[in-house]
Amino acid sequence: VQEPIVGRKSFAAVAINCAAKAGEWIKTKLGSYVSLNMKFSQHDLVTEIDKGSETMIRNLIMTHFPDHSFLGEEGVEPGPNASLEALDNMKEAEYLWIVDPIDGTTNFVHGFPFFVVSIALAHKGEIILGVVYDPSRDELFIAEKGKGAYVHGRRMRVSQEKAVHESLLATGFPADHQQALPLNMKQLQSVAPKARNIRASGSAALHMAYVAAGRLSGFWEMGLHPWDLAAGSLLIQESGGRVTGLNGEAYHLGIKDVVATSGDIHDELLKLLKEAGK
Ligand code: IPD
Ligand code: CA
Ligand code: CA
Ligand code: CA
Repeated sequence: VQEPIVGRKSFAAVAINCAAKAGEWIKTKLGSYVSLNMKFSQHDLVTEIDKGSETMIRNLIMTHFPDHSFLGEEGVEPGPNASLEALDNMKEAEYLWIVDPIDGTTNFVHGFPFFVVSIALAHKGEIILGVVYDPSRDELFIAEKGKGAYVHGRRMRVSQEKAVHESLLATGFPADHQQALPLNMKQLQSVAPKARNIRASGSAALHMAYVAAGRLSGFWEMGLHPWDLAAGSLLIQESGGRVTGLNGEAYHLGIKDVVATSGDIHDELLKLLKEAGK
């Protein structure tokens, strides 16, 4: 059901509304039968709930901002490079919404309660708003460019750990088993013995939000897409952390191999990851 437009709501208000509505709806579907399809491989799933969530978010955004552009995961053909091609087609957009309607679909399918809705808004390629909503814990993470990042209305700050050996890190096991996963395995072997410990929740956007909140000191994963990272990258930057590609280049929408940390451990983690890839 579309809401009537009452004035022009702020970008943030619309994003929060979308994330909360979609998240609450997704949660009501947890554990019930959902029809399931494979996308690119048996490791890459999509459900009717992913599609329903994306439609709900897109409709709400388009109602408020009909002249904006929209890039959602389920509107793009599956495949490792499709997201960058789609992004390329939208590079002229003044305002571009970048949406992952469920980040953590595999978790959702198995009833493992770690999945989020991720919504970002880019203005001329620069992310100005990021919202990640975790319906299982009713946690909403939000950042606006230059205005800080918040969870439960409280300002977020990245963790204080100064070295990898005192850090709790996270990674993810990519659906791309040709290139991304084998590299990730090598990296894990190199980093795990050095870190305090490693987690892998199955939601890249949740890991990004947790780095921003100081619950993790760092996160890395290979072969991701703009919708996995866009919102989380701003959460981390606005919390005082650092987000780069594997080669250390500052985060931009085309980054697929991400390293996201509190900042202090960044160079040390980058070095370990680069050595592992040799
Ligand atoms: C996936 C999750 C997962 C990561 C995969 C992503 P999806 O996104 O972020 O943590 O390991 O690489 O594709 O498909 O559940 O939105
Ligand atoms: Ca997916
Ligand atoms: Ca995702
Ligand atoms: Ca998704």
